[in-house]
Amino acid sequence: MPKVGTREMFKRANEENYAVGAFNVNNMEIIQGIVEAADELKAPLILQVSAGARKYARHEYLVKLVEAALITTDIPIALHLDHGDSFELCKNVIDGGFSSVMIDGSKHNFEENIRLTKEVVKYAHDHNIPVEAELGKLAGVEDDVKVDQKDAFYTDAHQAAEFVERTECDSLAVAIGTSHGAYKFKSEPKLNFDRLKEIQELLPEKYPLVLHGASTVIPEFVYLCNTYGGKLGDARGVPEEMIKKAAGMNVAKVNIDTDLRLAMTGNIRKAFHDNPENFDPRKYLGPARTAIKDMVIRKIKILGCDGKAF
Ligand code: G3H
Ligand code: 13P
Ligand code: ZN
Repeated sequence: MPKVGTREMFKRANEENYAVGAFNVNNMEIIQGIVEAADELKAPLILQVSAGARKYARHEYLVKLVEAALITTDIPIALHLDHGDSFELCKNVIDGGFSSVMIDGSKHNFEENIRLTKEVVKYAHDHNIPVEAELGKLAGVEDDVKVDQKDAFYTDAHQAAEFVERTECDSLAVAIGTSHGAYKFKSEPKLNFDRLKEIQELLPEKYPLVLHGASTVIPEFVYLCNTYGGKLGDARGVPEEMIKKAAGMNVAKVNIDTDLRLAMTGNIRKAFHDNPENFDPRKYLGPARTAIKDMVIRKIKILGCDGKAF
């Protein structure tokens, strides 16, 4: 089966109140673990590549690895650019075989974000490729930050409606309190679901929203990393009930990277500890691949996209 775009995936996800998992990939074992999980649960899948991943593994290798995965399964898989920051990068990956792109203009002011997003949308739509854009600041919003300051981080609902109308982007990443990495909250995790509701009410019906920074930072994996020599400190993520709640609203795509990193690294640390004489990479990358697969199975069940591939 060829790579697919995300329009059909998102339409069905919002009609049936689930979300599709978008997992960051950097090498063969990560791709294999994710695809095996999605294939086993018959879930639609988004594999996403950051600029850093593309630099690390190289564009050609990642595209060919995903094409190899598509030979092994008949589930729909989208190959998506994560956090594209320029028109040139988006154009390059579209020309080079990606089936979906994100242009992240969130660091720019509103008008510049619109200008850049429109430029990408024009090129992408001419090539039948859907575009995710971002509005709002994806930073941890702490309890001790004043309400009006918090507001400056969250996506503004009226701006979101204007942004989507003017840019014609196909999905929108919104800021409601999540952030990237393993240290998302200083104290209790809190997401602004009222803001999410307000945004979805002002956008066209069932318009697909995207949640970045959505890893849960599951304590058992932080513990696993720390038990075998890691020093992760006060790591904290988005509880699974909150991810479930978002998936039941108009959030159609949920981004996960940190949880895969923790599962992979924890298991590699353990493999080194359990077998200190080993120097065969297959003996630590193999368990790491299985850990990725198990983590993705857990995520797919939380998101409710199991059995939704066909
Ligand atoms: O949102 C960022 C993803 O976790 C990718 O991270 O830029 O280190 O590849 P990266
Ligand atoms: P996490 O760091 O929470 O996994 O978020 C990943 C992400 O948003 C990738 O774009
Ligand atoms: Zn992100």
